[in-house]
Amino acid sequence: MMMGKPMKVTRDSCQDRLNMKTTTPVTLTVFLRKMLMFWDTRSLTMVVSEGRRIYRVPVFAAPFCRALLQELEHFEQSDLPKGRPNTMNNYGVLLHELGLDEPLVTPLRERFLQPLTALLYPDCGGGRLDSHRAFVVKYAPGQDRALGCHYDNAELTLNVALGKAFTGGALYFGDLFQAPAALTEPLEVEHLVGQGVLHRGGQLHGARPLGTGERWNLVVWLRASAVRNRLCPMCRREPDLVDDEGFGDGFTREEPTTVDVCALT
Ligand SMILES: [Fe+2]
Repeated sequence: MMMGKPMKVTRDSCQDRLNMKTTTPVTLTVFLRKMLMFWDTRSLTMVVSEGRRIYRVPVFAAPFCRALLQELEHFEQSDLPKGRPNTMNNYGVLLHELGLDEPLVTPLRERFLQPLTALLYPDCGGGRLDSHRAFVVKYAPGQDRALGCHYDNAELTLNVALGKAFTGGALYFGDLFQAPAALTEPLEVEHLVGQGVLHRGGQLHGARPLGTGERWNLVVWLRASAVRNRLCPMCRREPDLVDDEGFGDGFTREEPTTVDVCALT
């Protein structure tokens, strides 16, 4: 749910603009029922790095990961229009194009993640998440194999390994807004299927080259307009905004408060 009018940054104000397209969502009622059955919240969140504030959190059970991968492959093989997941990944799926944004990612953000992020990242808008950008990235031979150092256009990021069988591809992390050239001792974090790695969007990070197999990961850029309206996470300046539809880039324009006044008769 967004409380204000959705906004995005202007083309010139920030290079990491979104590339969303409007497409017809597919109906996935049975699939979503499976998701609710297999939602696994039993395990505990684990600290990966206290200093870098990186955590591992259980998100999906294995049967749900398999069901989601099947659906992603059906979509990939279909003739439905597809956009790029983001400016760095060439292969993958935008969740809103599958019709899974509102029924899957919004409840994941609101019911599962926000209670956790409110405790872990109160200073990054963790308790005030109001939109997201969700996509699946695919790494495979002959396609994308690695991802260079970058920051995310997000206050917080959840990166969930979905499978399939693969070697390599570990995530690596530097410091908050560290220059890529200054990265000397990155922290490596292996993928575990069904589990997510939670980190700040501004934490310098990338993905090591895929060894063998195919790797699919769900990435959710979690956004808090209360934070980003004042400081764009990409250019670190106050954003220059234009109107947008849907979630936009996660910025909002706060509507002026209306005031009831007495009418003289
Ligand atoms: Fe990223």
